[in-house]
Amino acid sequence: MATIKPFKLEEVRDALSAIGVRGMMVEEIKGFGAQSGHTEIYRGAEYTVNFVPKIKLEIAVQASMADEVVETITKTARTGKIGDGKIFVLDIAQAVRVRTGETDEEAL
Ligand SMILES: Nc1ncnc2c1ncn2[C@@H]1O[C@H](COP(=O)(O)OP(=O)(O)OP(=O)(O)O)[C@@H](O)[C@H]1O
Ligand SMILES: [Mg+2]
Repeated sequence: MATIKPFKLEEVRDALSAIGVRGMMVEEIKGFGAQSGHTEIYRGAEYTVNFVPKIKLEIAVQASMADEVVETITKTARTGKIGDGKIFVLDIAQAVRVRTGETDEEAL
């Protein structure tokens, strides 16, 4: 699970596709991090509100790919300015492809 700056979405998607990621969920969210209540620049506008627009990605991959996915998002989404996002790594208990009933790595 990762949050990124919205303008980074296409670049992150392309970088993840290039390392073999085959699917992801993408959601427009608002959130706050360490600068809650302070200002952050989004599309040239300065947000003084508590919640800043972000993109949330949810990506399920085989465990052996997890580190590479984290590194790729980190490298691609980084601008070096505040608000570049966060990545949280979670274990997935089960995956199922609905069409075929395939499970776990075969369902990805
Ligand atoms: N502890 C957290 N738990 C859940 N979501 C978080 C947490 N911290 C940040 N987020 C989410 O990540 C988004 C990006 O946060 P942000 O990159 O500003 O984090 P930060 O810790 O303030 O880092 P930075 O100093 O780079 O701004 C937030 O808008 C929020 O959606
Ligand atoms: Mg922040």
